[in-house]
Amino acid sequence: MIDYNSSLSGDKDLSAILVIFGGTGDLTHRKLMPALYNMLLDGLVPDHLQVVAIGRRDKSEEEYRSEVRASMDKYSRNKVDEKIWSRLNDMIRYYRFDFRDHDGYSDLKTYLEELDKNSETKGNRIYYLAVAPEYFETIVLGLHKSNMVKTAKGWSRLVIEKPFGKDLITARQLNQKLLEVFEEKDIYRIDHYLGKDMIQNIMVLRFTNSIFESIWNNKYIDNIQISLTEKLGVGTRGGYYEHSGAMRDMIQNHIMQILSLVAMEPPVNLKTDSIRTEKLKVIEAIEEITPEFLRDNLVFGQYGKGVIDGKPVVGYREEENVPKDSGTETFVALKLHINNFRWAGTPFYIRTGKRLGSYGAEIVIQFKNMPNLLYFNDNNIQEPNLLVIRIQPSVGVFFQFNTKDFISHHGIVPTKMDTSYESPYQGNTPEAYERLIYDILRGDSTLFSRWDEVEAAWTVADKIIGYREQSKVKFPNYDAGSMGPIRATTLLAKDGREWWNI
Ligand SMILES: NC(=O)c1ccc[n+]([C@@H]2O[C@H](COP(=O)([O-])OP(=O)(O)OC[C@H]3O[C@@H](n4cnc5c(N)ncnc54)[C@H](OP(=O)(O)O)[C@@H]3O)[C@@H](O)[C@H]2O)c1
Repeated sequence: MIDYNSSLSGDKDLSAILVIFGGTGDLTHRKLMPALYNMLLDGLVPDHLQVVAIGRRDKSEEEYRSEVRASMDKYSRNKVDEKIWSRLNDMIRYYRFDFRDHDGYSDLKTYLEELDKNSETKGNRIYYLAVAPEYFETIVLGLHKSNMVKTAKGWSRLVIEKPFGKDLITARQLNQKLLEVFEEKDIYRIDHYLGKDMIQNIMVLRFTNSIFESIWNNKYIDNIQISLTEKLGVGTRGGYYEHSGAMRDMIQNHIMQILSLVAMEPPVNLKTDSIRTEKLKVIEAIEEITPEFLRDNLVFGQYGKGVIDGKPVVGYREEENVPKDSGTETFVALKLHINNFRWAGTPFYIRTGKRLGSYGAEIVIQFKNMPNLLYFNDNNIQEPNLLVIRIQPSVGVFFQFNTKDFISHHGIVPTKMDTSYESPYQGNTPEAYERLIYDILRGDSTLFSRWDEVEAAWTVADKIIGYREQSKVKFPNYDAGSMGPIRATTLLAKDGREWWNI
């Protein structure tokens, strides 16, 4: 893996034109441009980078730049320094173009070639598709037909955002189209969770600490819980969410990626493909998912009205662009097993949802208790050892272990060590985008999803989505501000366990 601390600035070999389709959109303003600004601040942008933002709207370059400047004030994690901003300002171009216009690509090509000559960007291109997924194919075909991909000069990389298809079939179709134009190694499928610090830290924690790795298996671990919970509702994104739901929005991508990092075998080296191959094996080892299995191990939910942080909020069906009889899930809890030697018998509990009582992303590893023979607390129990990997908004590691109770002088108490600190920006994700854009420039695709990983995750997710579409769960079934449907609690209670909210 690359050294994120090494500075790029001045390294001409990484020069490129970053072409953003969707340059006037929300993603560009909220995440991509602030990420570029902060990368400049940290010396992570090559001197010869040019940014061409493509949009349909009629505006001058100056207008566009001043809109980006305004977004910087709102979304940058660092206060804007005018000197740094003026460097980014000079790199940004606005190019007006309707990407459905097939004839327009040759003009774009000429424009980029001109820019190449004047900016020493060496023919290198990053095509970032910050547009709705239904346009991915149109744009890629347009680039192909105008010979903008495989040129004698420089490299071309394609960056796409989620969702990657809406099921296995559409994902395969899309992938086929992309592979006709780009090689797999040049396709960067963004899963911004992989750019988060603590996600990258999972492998380091596991594979550099013998105290963890030596007990990281079914002999010592009772269960593992992965929770990605949100207080927010769907806001203005009801139209998108209605066709996605929690399964497609969170489980198929982010949670499957986290699960594979937590459960994978050590890779033989840190090469991209060695890591991705081990991650893939985890998804392939997930136990067979049948309707009978899902009946007992899966809980869907949809929020009704309730109270979040003291304020009343509406239910999902009352949100903008959501039908009154919507059957879309805003919550999923799932228990599954990974059937390999390391994990057979250790359950993984997964949950994600919107409008819950807490916000955060955490992995809880609960270790098995010692025989309850010698020491216990006043309630006659031993608290388990817990290792919590906090991803957001707190970032760090929490560890709980038992010590003598010095106050009562009998029994034991759990001692809690917490290295985590509050990092509001982990929730906002510009840091993740900084890391990911940096890696795209460097040509390191370790933190992006390889096609076979996406395919394996869809194979699992499709079965669950198919089951949801057939099952008649009565929605809404949890109040906003709660921790989801009651059945999510019983899912663990029937195994004698509970969700940890630490
Ligand atoms: N926003 C987020 O936080 C977020 C997070 C994760 C993933 N994503 C994904 O990122 C992608 C973009 O999302 P977004 O929220 O940024 O969408 P958005 O705000 O709706 O922006 C869409 C962009 O596409 C451009 N566009 C649409 N049709 C066009 C056409 N025919 N020709 C040229 N430009 C056209 C729009 O340009 P004009 O306005 O000039 O027409 C606009 O710049 C989606 O795939 C989304 O799922 C977004």
